[in-house]
Amino acid sequence: MALLPILRFPDPRLKKVAAPVLEIDEGIKRLARDMAETMYEAPGIGLAATQVDVHKRVIVIDISETRDELLTLINPEIAEKDGLQVCEEGCLSVPGIYDKVERAENVRVHYLDLKGEKRTIEAHGLLAVCLQHEIDHLDGKVFVEHLSQLKQTRIKAKLAKQAKITA
Ligand code: NI
Repeated sequence: MALLPILRFPDPRLKKVAAPVLEIDEGIKRLARDMAETMYEAPGIGLAATQVDVHKRVIVIDISETRDELLTLINPEIAEKDGLQVCEEGCLSVPGIYDKVERAENVRVHYLDLKGEKRTIEAHGLLAVCLQHEIDHLDGKVFVEHLSQLKQTRIKAKLAKQAKITA
């Protein structure tokens, strides 16, 4: 197992569109394990492979309080969505920034599990937000890109300042 470095917004590599996984081999299984370890260590409730600079369609999520309900989704696809909710989001790639984003309230997502079995998850509330947030990452989109240009400019300035302090 290994902790993976997480890309920080506005790193241009966060804009890459991830490719579908064609075969769930040892490399993909290791990636999924390392991503889970990285997410728990951060700590966060979700992580997309894009954020660790691997441009394959793999996400891990655990929204449980007990941190023992890991979901690993390969090639997740939103098949259906409805309703609207506004939730305050954060992201491991945008440390210290939280803002409200409008998302679908309910989603149905098709994916493969680590054994290559086709699965469907029906989610609402926080899990639905998390799925949409992570699938956005696979499509090269960070949650702050749902915000106004003015807010994005402010966030970039704030992050640049943080980076200077820690450097
Ligand atoms: Ni994120």
